[in-house]
Amino acid sequence: MNIGILGAGQLAQMLALAGYPLGLRCTFLAPEEAPCAAPLGRHHRGDYQNSAALAAFADSVDVATAEFEHIAQVALEGLEDRGLLAPCSEAILLSQERLQEKSLFTRLGLPTARYAPIDTEADFNSALDVAGTPAILKTRRMGYDGKGQASVAAVADLLPAWESLGRVPCILEARVPFERELSVIAVRSRDGECRVWPLSENQHEAGILRVSRSLSNDPMEGLAQGYCERLLEALNYVGVLALELFQCGDELLVNEYAPRVHNSGHWTIEGAVTSQFENHLRAIAGLPLGATAAVAPSVMVNVIGQWPSARDILAVPGAHLHDYGKSPAPGRKLGHITLVDHDAEALRQGTAELCRLVGVAGEG
Ligand SMILES: Nc1ncnc2c1ncn2[C@@H]1O[C@H](COP(=O)(O)OP(=O)(O)O)[C@@H](O)[C@H]1O
Ligand SMILES: [Mg+2]
Repeated sequence: MNIGILGAGQLAQMLALAGYPLGLRCTFLAPEEAPCAAPLGRHHRGDYQNSAALAAFADSVDVATAEFEHIAQVALEGLEDRGLLAPCSEAILLSQERLQEKSLFTRLGLPTARYAPIDTEADFNSALDVAGTPAILKTRRMGYDGKGQASVAAVADLLPAWESLGRVPCILEARVPFERELSVIAVRSRDGECRVWPLSENQHEAGILRVSRSLSNDPMEGLAQGYCERLLEALNYVGVLALELFQCGDELLVNEYAPRVHNSGHWTIEGAVTSQFENHLRAIAGLPLGATAAVAPSVMVNVIGQWPSARDILAVPGAHLHDYGKSPAPGRKLGHITLVDHDAEALRQGTAELCRLVGVAGEG
């Protein structure tokens, strides 16, 4: 079976790696000349909005999916009309626009931080009334890795914040004093079966994920899984989805979802019976889902911007190195490292060493 993937970055690369032993082959559509997934499948070089490129891609695949959500509606609907796309265009389109996404959460009864739309300066007062300060101003579209966000510590910061984001449509969101950032990753099959991985606890710096830890039998697991399943059902979703959460006391606030495999689920490659990548492929290919249980507690550390030496990384006992083969650039995700260990002290020590090597602050 030939799997079409919109995008050819590291998520597409890891999907292709997971698919190979199952006999699944990948075809990527991406505009870059040499994206990092290209060596692992067939690369159609073309723009996502180019109808000829899309048609050639669609002709060559049995099912199509996406490794990122910012894809034009016309491209998604073209693939959907041909019966190829999973998850559905609605799930991807809603996640592209923060106001629609938050409104969906509200409709489904999933709690969120207080939020209000800002289209013009005339909306400032009403938005501040709802969100209060401190707050975060976020562009409604094209946000990722903390981009398209500005801090609003006090009322007077709102105008300069909006100007710094180019006066585009935004939402103003209360800054949540969370105790933990969590994510729940789940997969839903074509016949509606849901499976959920153990929760991940995530540590960000400057809006970018640095470290994820799998949690065993966390007290918030049932609540998070219930929220995620509600979302999957509502979207009639097929494939893997990640839901990002803030924990405040015994409450979980839903932040956003990603209609795809997610960085906070990379630990599942070595740390779960079936990885998020394999189960995404199984779901969209109509195959039975694999078990999502953890094999042991796991930690994943991202490599951002520049590499420490591979020799130093691999000297950490049990380290699994994933080098995406991308050229280094500030803020770019170049790879990740996973540790899986039943021994909590060994996991703690290994994680501290990896964090030191990749330059994660405040870790030990
Ligand atoms: N309302 C909020 N309160 C506190 N921190 C937030 C809030 N919204 C976002 N953040 C922080 O910024 C990070 C990135 O924001 P997010 O909304 O997930 O956007 P994206 O991942 O699309 O860049 C979050 O993971 C979290 O650390
Ligand atoms: Mg996020």
